[in-house]
Amino acid sequence: MISFRPTKQSDYKLLSRWRNDPGSLKNKGPNKPCTEEANFTHFDRVRDSHWIARHNGTVIGGILLQNRGHGYLGIPWSIGTEMRGLGMGKEMVCAAVKAFPGAKKARIKKDNIASLKCAEAAGYIKVDEDDEYITLVWEAA
Ligand SMILES: CC(C)(COP(=O)(O)OP(=O)(O)OC[C@H]1O[C@@H](n2cnc3c(N)ncnc32)[C@H](O)[C@@H]1OP(=O)(O)O)[C@@H](O)C(=O)NCCC(=O)NCCS
Repeated sequence: MISFRPTKQSDYKLLSRWRNDPGSLKNKGPNKPCTEEANFTHFDRVRDSHWIARHNGTVIGGILLQNRGHGYLGIPWSIGTEMRGLGMGKEMVCAAVKAFPGAKKARIKKDNIASLKCAEAAGYIKVDEDDEYITLVWEAA
């Protein structure tokens, strides 16, 4: 079962490692690895909006709550490097859309098939695309 808890300073080291993982860098900013210090500054800045996801109590990933304008919430998601490809992303995104209320919007690189599949499994619907990105929205049923 997936649960979410607030992010703590003691999570930063793990989150920093995940943030510098090549898979994360390719799919979301920044594009280059950051120093641990810069990543800690980043997590300090976003900590109040950042949530840690756990699967049966084990930390598996994180999401960030962002205002995307026009009443839409962004919930950019990441699964920890070692836990990718095991179905955790799909489970986490399906749980997150319910745990954090309101309409949501996501902008996902076209080649990020795993993330697109997570969004679609959670009920996001494609509304737009450009050369590089697909935009999807999630509205409560
Ligand atoms: C994107 C991410 C959250 C997906 O989580 P995950 O746990 O790896 O994905 P899952 O194991 O739940 O797989 C979801 C689907 O994608 C498929 N998939 C997983 N990894 C894949 C890959 N590398 N290439 C293509 N498909 C892949 C799975 O087979 C599954 O397909 P299905 O629905 O047909 O069964 C995770 O890979 C991640 O954190 N990546 C780096 C950060 C990132 O890209 N965040 C999203 C930015 S928009």
